[in-house]
Amino acid sequence: MKKILVSYDGSEAAKKAIEMTKKFANVDDELTILTVIPAELVESSFTKMLLPTIDMASMAKSGSFKEKAMESLSGIAGGLESFVGKINLAVESGDPADEILLTAKKIETDVIIIGYKGYGKEGRFLLGSVTDKVVRSASSSVLVAR
Ligand SMILES: Nc1ncnc2c1ncn2[C@@H]1O[C@H](COP(=O)(O)OP(=O)(O)O)[C@@H](O)[C@H]1O
Ligand SMILES: [Mg+2]
Repeated sequence: MKKILVSYDGSEAAKKAIEMTKKFANVDDELTILTVIPAELVESSFTKMLLPTIDMASMAKSGSFKEKAMESLSGIAGGLESFVGKINLAVESGDPADEILLTAKKIETDVIIIGYKGYGKEGRFLLGSVTDKVVRSASSSVLVAR
């Protein structure tokens, strides 16, 4: 039995990480799927500027971001059920790389599965900045899906 953490940001590359998880996991493994809501999404001055019209602050407070992310993770989990023994869903907010590393430590994960790039900046970098930081700093093994 091993513990797997897969980090999902909705990008095509993260979907590849999910597909890799299906190949890599055994039926007695425990899987955690994590999405991090970037702090800047909640706290940026751009968001604050738009506050009067779209009221992002109350959205963030009421947990709407978190609920949406949980919904999307539930859908992903449905496709993984037959591949692993147990699935946990996690939504955190903050710096994505830091939260992935913290969660990996907290649940004592054996391997982190992560996409090689993420949302946006398509093709600009060989390796996404979150993946770069996770690979450099993780104390567990990291599987970068391509
Ligand atoms: N907010 C996030 N929550 C969970 N996983 C993330 C998040 N951001 C990035 N990741 C993971 O890191 C991978 C690489 O993304 P990233 O390093 O952010 O690339 P880019 O710089 O192209 O956005 C994604 O495929 C995903 O697995
Ligand atoms: Mg990114």
